[in-house]
Amino acid sequence: MDRRNFLAASAAASLLSSTRARAQAPISIKFSHVVASDTPKGKAAERFKVLAEQRAGGRVKVEVYPNSQLLKDGEELEALQLGAVQMLAPSTSKFGPIGLPQFELFDLPYIFPNRALLHRVTGGKVGKELFESLGSKGMVGLGYWDNGFKVMSANKPLHMPDDYRGLKMRIKSSKVLDAQMRALGCQPQVMAFSEVYQAMQTGVVDGSENTLPNLWTQKFYEVQKYVALSHHGYDGYAVIVNKKFWDGLPPELRATLTKAIQEATEFENELSLQENNDDVAKIKGAGRAQVYELSAEEQTALRKTLLPVHKQMESRIGKQWIDAVYSEAAAAGVTY
Ligand code: LMR
Repeated sequence: MDRRNFLAASAAASLLSSTRARAQAPISIKFSHVVASDTPKGKAAERFKVLAEQRAGGRVKVEVYPNSQLLKDGEELEALQLGAVQMLAPSTSKFGPIGLPQFELFDLPYIFPNRALLHRVTGGKVGKELFESLGSKGMVGLGYWDNGFKVMSANKPLHMPDDYRGLKMRIKSSKVLDAQMRALGCQPQVMAFSEVYQAMQTGVVDGSENTLPNLWTQKFYEVQKYVALSHHGYDGYAVIVNKKFWDGLPPELRATLTKAIQEATEFENELSLQENNDDVAKIKGAGRAQVYELSAEEQTALRKTLLPVHKQMESRIGKQWIDAVYSEAAAAGVTY
């Protein structure tokens, strides 16, 4: 069955089965994602499956589909809204096309200089209000999972902003990332994650930004000669479920699943910290790409070029969201 038929058939089936399943067979939770199973997100999805199935005592069955096996970028969110899958954990950079541009807040370069501020924001009022905004799109947010701070890669060394000029850089479907790459003089190209390796290999794109666990598990280092440890921005996931499905669950089962997600979230966030650290050595050890830190002067130049994107994207994201992060930053003693 192709993906389109899958969506139609599953949406119809999910309507039928939601009532039947409650009485007889276990309730099925299809959890689709686009990264490898051995990433922090992949492992946490499996952890959730184990916890949920054990604790629900056979009442739920979680099927995890990794690596864009079932759905890729540009298909996932629609499938969730239709009820063809019940659960996803997309990057927050991917919510713009379905009318939730406020999630592109996380894409602003340098807005989160550290994980402490990020977690203060996701665990506080902003994180809660962002999740509330999902309701109008038929979705519920259950947790924020870290991916990590991003690095830049290409087939030429990227040190100063001028080095980026004219490069075709793959981005996720975020207008903020588009503006970020344009600020560097690049030609941004929106592309599904599953297509990036081949696009790099064939020269359809010259480079990209991503986190180290993604660079490692997708083997981007085989097709990129240089990796700049720029850490210029953050990428993370929102774990979401179909609202109708979620609201229709028996309350005690919903509580069990909520607890399982909380534990999977703690697990994921620890793991991503560890793997972002470990993957530098692994990528270097593979001996294919040259991996380097930016000097203080290079970092300052990149920052100076990219910070104006905050102001430029105010009307896209909503100034109130950006200001809310600035307030949290001020309270935490962070200056930009
Ligand atoms: C990407 O598209 O680069 C990432 O969002 C993939 C992912 O889910 O980490």
